[in-house]
Amino acid sequence: MRLFLDTADIEEIREINRWGVLRGVTTNPTLVEREKQDPERVWKEILQEVDGDVSLETTEPEAGPMYEQGLRLSQMGPNAVVKVPMTPAGLQAGSRLVKDGVRINVTLVFSPAQAILAAEIGAYIVSPFLGRIDDVASDGMYALRQICEIYEVQGYETQVLAASLRHPMHVVEAALAGADIATLPFDVFTKLVKHPLTDVGLQKFDQDWNALQRELKGGA
Ligand code: G3P
Repeated sequence: MRLFLDTADIEEIREINRWGVLRGVTTNPTLVEREKQDPERVWKEILQEVDGDVSLETTEPEAGPMYEQGLRLSQMGPNAVVKVPMTPAGLQAGSRLVKDGVRINVTLVFSPAQAILAAEIGAYIVSPFLGRIDDVASDGMYALRQICEIYEVQGYETQVLAASLRHPMHVVEAALAGADIATLPFDVFTKLVKHPLTDVGLQKFDQDWNALQRELKGGA
């Protein structure tokens, strides 16, 4: 399962990129708004920084303008993936973009039925929002497992990207379910690396190493 960062913050992207595990980035209008900058500038910087897919989201509500905007976004870089929403207009614009050879990510997906539609238009990525399904007292992980199973049974090539992940167990369970990609906010990424026994173990190794240095100096 490839790990993406769900952010438009270039400093967060640079930090996780240094770890060597970053395979892509997803952005959305909310994340771009947080940067308080010209969106084009934000997207260009991310596209240059990341050696992997970067999802840029359309904002036009009607199919025609959404298609035109999607074409422009796709031309921003070879690693640009165009996000369209799971709406009739999104499907219409998305299928036109696919016919033009543009890689699309169908977003705001909350059910297996919607995921079937995304696969049928030849989407490159489908993004079920697990955390937001949990937020309405439903089971996001169950929906993800169903989507992965349907795609397997039907031989769909659309990649399943588990989105709206809120904690490390979401990531672990998404991997078990067979998601192709998981997109994580920065804080979830940093929680993945943490374990109290790693800290305790490192402290002990450090103490013992320093004790050895003192012993060697004392014996000299
Ligand atoms: O980028 C899409 C998705 O990951 C948003 O997550 O936390 O706003 O539900 P969230």
